[in-house]
Amino acid sequence: MTEPTAAPPVPKAELHVHLEAGAAPALVRRNADRYGVDVSRLFDDEGRYLWTDFTTFLTAYDLAASVFRTPEDFAGLAESYQLDAAAAGSVYTEFFVSPDFGNRSGLGYRAYLDGIVEGLRRAEAAAGIVGRLIPLIERHYGPERGVEAARAAVNNLVPEVVGFGMAGEERLYAPHEFRPAFEVAAEAGLPLTCHAGEWCSWEGVAATLDALPVRRIGHGVRAIENADLVRRIAAEGIHLEICPVSNVTLGVYGSYADHPLLKLRAAGVRHSLNSDDPPFFWTSVGHEYRVGRDTFGLSDAELAGVTRMAIEDAFCDEATKARLFARL
Ligand code: ADE
Ligand code: ZN
Repeated sequence: MTEPTAAPPVPKAELHVHLEAGAAPALVRRNADRYGVDVSRLFDDEGRYLWTDFTTFLTAYDLAASVFRTPEDFAGLAESYQLDAAAAGSVYTEFFVSPDFGNRSGLGYRAYLDGIVEGLRRAEAAAGIVGRLIPLIERHYGPERGVEAARAAVNNLVPEVVGFGMAGEERLYAPHEFRPAFEVAAEAGLPLTCHAGEWCSWEGVAATLDALPVRRIGHGVRAIENADLVRRIAAEGIHLEICPVSNVTLGVYGSYADHPLLKLRAAGVRHSLNSDDPPFFWTSVGHEYRVGRDTFGLSDAELAGVTRMAIEDAFCDEATKARLFARL
C-alpha cells in the first residue's frame, strides 16, 4: 500500500513584516556576541524576547535591531527570514524597512538597503520566494524625521522598493502632520500604507484615510468600531494588513473571540494575514495561517483566497504578480 502523501501547505503571502523584528533570538544572540553587545535583558529564561507592553516592545525591538551593522548582517537577516517563510509555504513577503534604522546602524540607508536586497535575491534564488521592501517612517520620531525618511526612500529607489509607509507609536502626532512626508513618496509614484487603528480607535483609521492617500492600512482592525467606516473601507477597496497574533499578544484584543477578523471579512473588507514582528509575538507566517484555520475556522480554500487578495493588493509590479499567481 502506498502512503497517502500530505497535502501541500496552503500558499501564503505577507504584506506586513518589520524586517528587524523578524530576527530570530538565536541570530540576535550570535550577532550580539560578535559585537560585544549585552542583550541579556532582551530575553527571558527560555530565550524568548522579553517585553511587557507596546512601549517596552519598541525598546526591545530597537535593541535587537542594534546588533545588525554590516550589509552582510542585513543580508543574512533577510535571507534567513525568507528561507523559513518559504519552508512554511510562503511565496511573497513585503518587509517594512527603516531608513532610521539604516542610519542608526552606522551604515547609512543605501548600504543597509543593498545588504537587504542581496539577502532577498539569495533567498529567491534558493527557494523561489519573492521579497519586496517598504521603507517607513517611525512615527514616534516625528514629522520632520518622516520627511527625511521619505527623501531617503525616493532617492534610493532600487527595484525591490515598491512602496512607502509609517509605523511606530500611533498615539503620537496626528496623521495630517505626516502629509508632507507622504507627498514626497506619492510624487515619486510609491503606493502608500500606514499603521492605524491598532492603538487608536476607529477615529485613527478615519483620520488616516482623510489625511493621507493610502491604499492599505497596517492593522486597521479598530475600524470595526464604526459601521460607516467599515462600509467606506469596503467600498473604497482599502486593504487591511491584519495581524491577529500581534493584536492578541500585544493586548489590542483580549482574545481571538474578540478579534474582528471574521466581521471584517463578512463586511467585504480586503485583507491579508501577517506576522508583524514574528519572534517577538511567538508567531510566523505559518502560524498566522494556522490560527486562521484552527481558531477562526477558515477553510483551506478561504485561506488561499486570503493569499490571492494579498497578491492582488501587493505593491509589486504586475509581472511579479503574474509570476506569483502562477504558483498558487
Ligand atoms: N513597529 C513594529 N511593530 C509595530 C506595531 N505592531 N505597531 C506599530 N509599529 C510597529
Ligand atoms: Zn506593524
